[in-house]
Amino acid sequence: MRIVLVGPPGAGKGTQAQHLATHLSIPAVSTGDIFRSHVSRGTPLGRTAGQYLDRGALVPDEVTTDMVRDRLAEPDAAGGFLLDGFPRTTGQAEALDKILADSGVPLDGVLELRVAADEVVRRLSGRRQCRAGGHVCHVDFAPPAVAGICDSCGSELYQREDDREDTVLRRLEVYARQTAPLVGHYAERGLLTAVDAVGDIAEITERALAALRERD
Ligand code: AP5
Ligand code: ZN
Repeated sequence: MRIVLVGPPGAGKGTQAQHLATHLSIPAVSTGDIFRSHVSRGTPLGRTAGQYLDRGALVPDEVTTDMVRDRLAEPDAAGGFLLDGFPRTTGQAEALDKILADSGVPLDGVLELRVAADEVVRRLSGRRQCRAGGHVCHVDFAPPAVAGICDSCGSELYQREDDREDTVLRRLEVYARQTAPLVGHYAERGLLTAVDAVGDIAEITERALAALRERD
């Protein structure tokens, strides 16, 4: 299956992407995680992207789409993938259409994770993430067994620079202006399924899997 996850910052895209990818045996591809990995390794791409991430702005389309095209050409994505955080602009959606057309495979569906803005702010202010695997947890809603240590890989947890409240508000604005229009774009093409993303994490995964099964 080839699936796109869309939703505001903090909707739980990364959290659900990890669970869904395991259930569906496809790789989760997060553009945010790829950018953060480049930033922490200090690569040229990381130096370019870092300036945008810190401000809560989008990295330019050309940089992002080249990176995604390369990632989707890797062997593990040949049988399907779950995109988390891409596309995020109409330009990126067109680029994805072209990547898929070139490889002769269609998109199977777009899952929109729906959550209100006040819930997003609560989620992001308590989020902790590990550098090693991009695993996420929450100090109150999904606490790690040992404070400060990632349950999944044992590495140290940190708070993302762009989870400061002013940057979160900026990211929400950017989502509303640049990414929310994509929901209509995919709905018109009959690809969109909205999932209520409030509640228990495992239940939301079940809702998403049920929505995907209905599309099959
Ligand atoms: P990115 O990393 O994609 O950030 P985002 O879209 O803002 O999404 P988040 O990672 O903040 O949230 P999420 O929806 O994944 O939620 P999570 O599962 O972590 O992008 C970061 C930056 O990279 C962008 O600002 C931009 O600069 C750049 N970038 C990335 N892609 C780009 C693109 N395509 N084009 C241009 N630039 C791009 O969950 C959040 C918290 O809530 C966690 O603590 C989690 O434990 C908790 N939680 C999850 N589910 C629940 C639940 N059901 N109940 C309670 N808590 C929950
Ligand atoms: Zn980890």
